[in-house]
Amino acid sequence: MSGGLVLYALSAAFAAWILFFVYRQLASPLRHIPGPFWTRFTRAWYLYRLSQGHFEKENIDLHNEFGSIVRIAPGWYSCSGTEAIKKIYGLGSKFTKSDWLFAGLYSLTSLMSYEPFVNRCIDLFVDRLSEFSQTNEEIDLGHWMQCYAFDVIGCITFGERLGFLDSGEDIEGVIRAVDSIPGFASLSGIYSEWHSLLYKINSYLTTSGASGRNFLASFAREKITNHKQQQQKDLAEKTQEPDGIGSTIVNQGEDGTTSREPFMTKMIRAQLQNPEKVSDYHLIMLARSNMGAGFDTTAISLSSIIYHLIKTPRVVQKLRAEFDAARKAGRLSDRVTFHESQDLPYFQAVMKEALRMHSATGLPLWRVVPEGGVELNGVHFPEGTILGINSWVSHYNKDVFTNPTEFCPERWIEQDEAKLKTMNDMYMPFGLGSRTCIGRHISILEMSKLIPVLVDRFDFVMASSASPSGESKWETENFWFVKPRNFRVRVYQKGLRD
Ligand code: HEM
Repeated sequence: MSGGLVLYALSAAFAAWILFFVYRQLASPLRHIPGPFWTRFTRAWYLYRLSQGHFEKENIDLHNEFGSIVRIAPGWYSCSGTEAIKKIYGLGSKFTKSDWLFAGLYSLTSLMSYEPFVNRCIDLFVDRLSEFSQTNEEIDLGHWMQCYAFDVIGCITFGERLGFLDSGEDIEGVIRAVDSIPGFASLSGIYSEWHSLLYKINSYLTTSGASGRNFLASFAREKITNHKQQQQKDLAEKTQEPDGIGSTIVNQGEDGTTSREPFMTKMIRAQLQNPEKVSDYHLIMLARSNMGAGFDTTAISLSSIIYHLIKTPRVVQKLRAEFDAARKAGRLSDRVTFHESQDLPYFQAVMKEALRMHSATGLPLWRVVPEGGVELNGVHFPEGTILGINSWVSHYNKDVFTNPTEFCPERWIEQDEAKLKTMNDMYMPFGLGSRTCIGRHISILEMSKLIPVLVDRFDFVMASSASPSGESKWETENFWFVKPRNFRVRVYQKGLRD
């Protein structure tokens, strides 16, 4: 074939490709739904904007410009409002969560037996912060929150701290490896049909999310093997440490379950009893999802609480007054229990508001419309359409949240019931519907116990607040998790700042 013919064939193929996209757009029953121009033809627009790392803000702006349903890519629509919430996350109810075998492990009652693990991590974290207050050094509080969250999740999953709180070191590069997963997953998820190819390519690149995932899997495998060996050894020696951290046998129940046993012990026992139901794959999945989904989200949320408190000193004063009053009334111990934290309404509102202002996930929670399609705002979305709501869009909806950019815990208290119900309907930091966050109680436990201790003992100051304007904002980056990138602070013992 001559060079001219090849060129001709390529041009014809390109023209046919363009015509196909134009035809598909003109013929689409959803062509009237607004959105940026290029989103009519390609997912590349979304890919590019997402790669900029601030899609949560862009998503809010898009809804302000185009209304409650916005086209993000051909067949992908970002939605907002209570009707959308009910329809989209109600849709998932057709697909129950029964595939998640061990949901019971994450129940609040089961998790409350892990308070001693959390106490131990809090003690260590307080030690580190006290040291920093002595040396007056600047620290990345976002990183230290990761260390705390990782050590807690390590205790709950394996019964052992992984050791991050000892020196803040990223042991075996785990944090970095886990950090890299969401970026790869969200960018490659846009072109899911190429995912396996991209995954293979990226597995060879050491900094990619795919290699992070492999690393995490082998890390989990190693921990599971150690755990199995330890458990066999314990059984052989029949050791019973009644109160030590890391002890596995405490309060034996009639059904064979015991409290303060880490997840892995319970899972390995389940495997011994039911080997055909519980495989090694299940053990690895549990470990991986706890570490992958459970530590960054919690660290971000903890950081958000402290960041907003730093920015709003009047809230700190009110919070401390609530803690003082509760302590005087004998309702608050030094090591705040989860139970006690539930009886602190202002504190509860502070946590809720911080997660409204800064939700850990910052992309729409996409769902595929099932068979039969769905009616939304008078529009029929056929089966296979992709719809999603970004919690940031929901939480910054001006019609529901007055002055949404203002950190105002009082909005959750001083509100009439009807308004409060709408706000709660729109509140979705942990997602909604059948795929809602399974681990939220773990995070709530971690936050409820740590924050009162930090607020009671320390003052935090943004490191750059020494600047003349006194104004400083953190930088964030969104590749699914909206992570603080420069949450540098100085720590002072409470009341001892010059
Ligand atoms: C403040 C902390 C947390 C936040 C903000 C958070 C947020 C979320 C969100 C928004 C989803 C829904 C994703 C979707 O709909 O596509 C989710 C799902 C999930 N989360 Fe969390 N999460 C947190 C903590 C945790 C922890 C501590 C764990 C485990 C130890 C965990 C495990 C999971 C799992 C396994 C799912 C998937 C559930 C499913 O698809 O059935 N999360 N989380």
